[in-house]
Amino acid sequence: MEIIKRTKIIDLLNTGTRLDGKVCVKGWVRTRRGNKHIAFIALNDGSTIHNIQIVVDIARFGEEFLKPVTTGACLCVNGLLVESQGQGQAAEIQAEEIEIYGTADPAVYPLQKKGHSLEFLREIAYLRPRTNTFGAIFRIRHHLAYAIHEYFNKQGFFYFHTPIITASDAEGAGSMFQVTTLDMDRLPKTEDGKVDYSSDFFGSATNLTVSGQLEGELGAMALGGIYTFGPTFRAENSNTPRHLAEFWMIEPEVAFFDIRDNMDLAEDFLKYVISYAMTHCKDDIEFLNKMYDNELIDRLNFVVNNQFIRLTYTEGIEILEKSGKKFEYPVYWGADLQSEHERFLVEDHFKCPVILTDYPKEIKSFYMKQNDDGKTVRGMDVLFPKIGEIIGGSEREADYQKLLNRVEELHMSLDSLWWYLDTRRFGTAPHAGFGLGFERLVLFISGMTNIRDVIPFPRTPKNVLF
Ligand code: 4AD
Ligand code: MG
Repeated sequence: MEIIKRTKIIDLLNTGTRLDGKVCVKGWVRTRRGNKHIAFIALNDGSTIHNIQIVVDIARFGEEFLKPVTTGACLCVNGLLVESQGQGQAAEIQAEEIEIYGTADPAVYPLQKKGHSLEFLREIAYLRPRTNTFGAIFRIRHHLAYAIHEYFNKQGFFYFHTPIITASDAEGAGSMFQVTTLDMDRLPKTEDGKVDYSSDFFGSATNLTVSGQLEGELGAMALGGIYTFGPTFRAENSNTPRHLAEFWMIEPEVAFFDIRDNMDLAEDFLKYVISYAMTHCKDDIEFLNKMYDNELIDRLNFVVNNQFIRLTYTEGIEILEKSGKKFEYPVYWGADLQSEHERFLVEDHFKCPVILTDYPKEIKSFYMKQNDDGKTVRGMDVLFPKIGEIIGGSEREADYQKLLNRVEELHMSLDSLWWYLDTRRFGTAPHAGFGLGFERLVLFISGMTNIRDVIPFPRTPKNVLF
């Protein structure tokens, strides 16, 4: 076979490629149709949602040779790029040489031509990136990750790497995965019968991080503005379409920001990355709009072009109470809002993204700045249509004594938090930050409805396949 430099399909289909030139493409067969004389192969290499059509003169290659060219097989094709005779594509390739890299026996290859359910595809998550849907989602995921770094870099924030293994509980919520090298069958014990972690790998009990925020604050108090972007782990037994046990979180933290600056940043940031995706993932978003959710593009446009509504938790509760709507979970001042409440405010009441602020301190984390009323803290949640909470954040308590009081009230361990409190002893400053759940963002932009479908290999209770 003649050696020609491979061209990606996205480059072939974009203008600039000379027609009537010889090209080499490599990819996986999506479909094969045709008759005794001619075969039309739709080839996809993952660079774009679009396939390139390969036209094969069967007599030239022989029926026997072409038999294993079925859905899923991987090919290398040399041929002439010509203007297409048929409809639906501008250019196609007249095959001159074909090498079959790998076959995919139709008797056992699970991905066949016609529509598989998302549930079925979840069971074969190791193959689903080869479908149009998941190709589109994972390309969008990539572009969003890139846009996030681009946004913060442009704004002068520094990417700050916070640890994955920690000895603290950043959210004080206790839903952590323990990390240990102790022998589970023969645990060393202290005199009072507790597990003796002094002989564990780190010499103390450790877990996977639930948030990089506490260490992020240390970065902000030195570099001014930082962001983290890393994996986060929560051992909550939440089997919902919006929770993962392993997800990626983006956490900016900024010195000298108050809650208003923080809300402005969150809104600007979300609009930037959504616009970025709409420009750079146009074909993929159009595909998802057509196949799954024909209001997707309108919704994305709406969010980018409208100001988010800002109101307090207390005002939100009043609206919910007055709505007369029957919720599964009761609404009262002090209640933690459920997704149904958040979505009512966003989808039914305001029909616009909402930023709720000033929550009761009992339902929020220990580090949030305490308001003068003694009841509420300066937290903020950004609520999105179809998603509910997409961002959670706050202005932080910068006063040493107030923070210490809260830590003690909640019986949190000073042994694992003393260094965090020290930031308030040494050059403390007002500061604020938030966390964006990356998969919730991808969920919103892709129009998917289950968070398991926007991460390549989801981790949820009782599921750790692949
Ligand atoms: O509201 P959360 O728990 O806030 C924090 O972790 C803060 N430390 C953030 C900060 O202020 N720096 O989580 C932040 C976001 C949520 O709004 C949600 O988008 C996402 O992380 N999130 C999850 N996403 C998927 N699966 C889960 N189990 C999630 N838990 C939170
Ligand atoms: Mg939250």
